[in-house]
Amino acid sequence: MSKEFLRVCTVDEIEERKGFRFIIDDVTDIALFKVDGIIYAVDNVCPHNHTPKMHLGYIEDEHVLCPVHFFKFSLKTGKLTGEAGCTLPVYEVKIEGNEVFVEKPDNKFFNFDF
Ligand code: FES
Repeated sequence: MSKEFLRVCTVDEIEERKGFRFIIDDVTDIALFKVDGIIYAVDNVCPHNHTPKMHLGYIEDEHVLCPVHFFKFSLKTGKLTGEAGCTLPVYEVKIEGNEVFVEKPDNKFFNFDF
């Protein structure tokens, strides 16, 4: 089954190292970040405490720090830095011209493995 992608914005609308929030539906809330010109899409809801504030997170290299308790997640894999723990869902991004498309999540999931 091929992935479905949704157009979310233009490349120019996303500022370097600043979060951009895109709400797809009642349960899917995505945060986009541009780091060194590369756009990443992650779930806006932090898996640690279900806080929908990842778009307000801080960028450090290719990681985003949740603004609530500063857990540090990879923008590429969603993995938490340090000890094993929760994983932030990440979504594939496609750029076509100046348009940004994000993989439509199949369903909402959380990992409570910490
Ligand atoms: S809610 Fe994000 S680190 Fe705690």
